[in-house]
Amino acid sequence: QQSHESLQELAKELKLVVPNRYVQETQESTFVSNSSSPLPSIPLIDMKDLIKMLGSDTEQLKNLRSICHEWGIFQLVNHGVDKLLVEEMKKEVVEFFNLPVEEKLRYKLKAGEYEGYGQTILHTQDQKVDWADRFYMITNPLHRRKSHLLPQFPPMLRDTMENYLHEVQKLAMTLFSLIGQAVDIDKNEMVDVFENGMQSVRMNYYPPCPEPDRVVGLSPHSDATGLTILLQVNDVEGLQVKKDGVWIPVNFLPDTFVINIGDVLEIMSNGVYNSIEHKATVNATKERISLAMFFNPKLEAEVKPAKSLRMSTGKVPLYRTLVMEQFLKEFFSCKLNGKTFLEKMK
Ligand code: SIN
Ligand code: FE2
Repeated sequence: QQSHESLQELAKELKLVVPNRYVQETQESTFVSNSSSPLPSIPLIDMKDLIKMLGSDTEQLKNLRSICHEWGIFQLVNHGVDKLLVEEMKKEVVEFFNLPVEEKLRYKLKAGEYEGYGQTILHTQDQKVDWADRFYMITNPLHRRKSHLLPQFPPMLRDTMENYLHEVQKLAMTLFSLIGQAVDIDKNEMVDVFENGMQSVRMNYYPPCPEPDRVVGLSPHSDATGLTILLQVNDVEGLQVKKDGVWIPVNFLPDTFVINIGDVLEIMSNGVYNSIEHKATVNATKERISLAMFFNPKLEAEVKPAKSLRMSTGKVPLYRTLVMEQFLKEFFSCKLNGKTFLEKMK
């Protein structure tokens, strides 16, 4: 029974064959590089260069705009979050997954809920299960925090995570400001939507898999967020992004965050920015661990093409309007499936 609640435990006992419920019907292939087409790599942005650009219209901002348009994802160097804090956070996440399974199951996902520790939430009986255990929870607004989750964490994990959430939140607000500025959304409109917004976090654990090519660690999807800030906790690669119809692996770079544009910014930019489709693959011999933080509008804000942007460009809104609370509800009620959720917003 317990092995069904924690894939980590099941994977320890597995020798050769993956149970059918994890086996994907089809797998799209990954970019194959050769001498005439080398592997493209996702763009790098240096936060130090960006910060100089706050409030000015420059080449750097144009570069940021074109990266968010063409890719919707970049690796951020010199992000400014304290290195020791990041290292401590990584250590605590690793230790969380190393806890005895009974400890982790204290935070177990319950039927009909989407916060806590567990495997893929099933929407249909025959749905395939991703090769991963996850821990997802809402961390802001404070009154939405579940009392049996973060407050009940081992003290070191809890305190480190509180600090980490706080610091990365500040980084996110700076990025929102720059990314808004780069597409000419009024500064006040960005602040109104995202300040003290809905924030959530997910720890991902991908066990080694005897047949890695037959499973997926995290099904293809775009994020229902404004921005996502991902920390690759160990140096095992696995994240892939879909660019021009092909899957491209994201390499592991120490001391960087992977930043991706989510559906909300695609909508707010009226389609100028790309909420990039991505997935996680798994490794035959090594576990992979990551920590994703999601930054969203406040729950009562309207998700829609920015008013200031529409006024300055005169374009018709390409997406419908939905209050954030409802937007999330609809997102959680369907299974991850590429960009199909965002398509429904058109
Ligand atoms: C990961 O890279 O492990 C997860 C990416 C995501 O949260 O979608
Ligand atoms: Fe994601």
